[in-house]
Amino acid sequence: MTGGASGIGAAIAERLRADGLQVATIDLNPGDEKFAYAADVTDRAAIDAALKDIRAELGPVTVLVNAAGMDRFKKFTDLTFEDWQKVIDVNLNGVFHCVQAVLPDMIEAGWGRIVNISSSSTHSGQPFMAPYVAAKSGVNGLTKSLALEYGPYGITVNAVPPGFIDTPMLRKAEKRGFLGDTDKQIEATPVRRMGRPEDIAAACAFFISEEAGYVTGQILGVNGGRNT
Ligand code: NAI
Repeated sequence: MTGGASGIGAAIAERLRADGLQVATIDLNPGDEKFAYAADVTDRAAIDAALKDIRAELGPVTVLVNAAGMDRFKKFTDLTFEDWQKVIDVNLNGVFHCVQAVLPDMIEAGWGRIVNISSSSTHSGQPFMAPYVAAKSGVNGLTKSLALEYGPYGITVNAVPPGFIDTPMLRKAEKRGFLGDTDKQIEATPVRRMGRPEDIAAACAFFISEEAGYVTGQILGVNGGRNT
């Protein structure tokens, strides 16, 4: 899985390990868990190299969770094309690289599970986050298309768009004043709390389970009932 060193990705890795899976993580800053590899998801050669090591250690990859991501808050008129490209590159092109790199293993196995972590901002948009919302909306579209294309191979592809989850990424955005008042955000959330990384991990664990084999192309919002 990607982005496994922090926040949501770390919680997913922990949950999948607890469920008995052997989990390898790919992250810019991998941390010191077992099978943690350093690679940038935008760098296909680095992903392929990490996957070579992962396959040597653990065998073919039949489950992929794409959780690596980055935000960037800027007024649209202040965005440079480089800003735009960077956000698309990490959040959308990174998913392209990782999915394309592992699909052959899943096709060969006749079984696979892909879960993409998108964003609840895709439901209604988000000011100052246009490239991020565009990239994450692309991830949702990619999810649906791949589900149709690879269903016949026993591979399911689903997305989890999280909303307002207490992670280092969200706290950094809060500190920089981009999220407004956290208490007000909680008040606007029907279940009246922030999300926990474990909430996202639980949805991923379901999609990855054997029982979820008839569930594909779905975008499962885990957001406490918020629509943004
Ligand atoms: P985080 O910042 O705590 O974790 C993101 C991880 O991705 C970090 O370990 C980081 O090193 C890694 N990463 C970033 N760029 C990378 C790259 N180019 N290559 C490899 N690894 C890279 O953030 P958080 O909140 O845990 O986010 C996880 C995912 O959930 C992201 O895709 C994010 O966009 C998404 N998300 C989070 C929400 C929230 O409320 N926290 C809301 C909506 C979506």
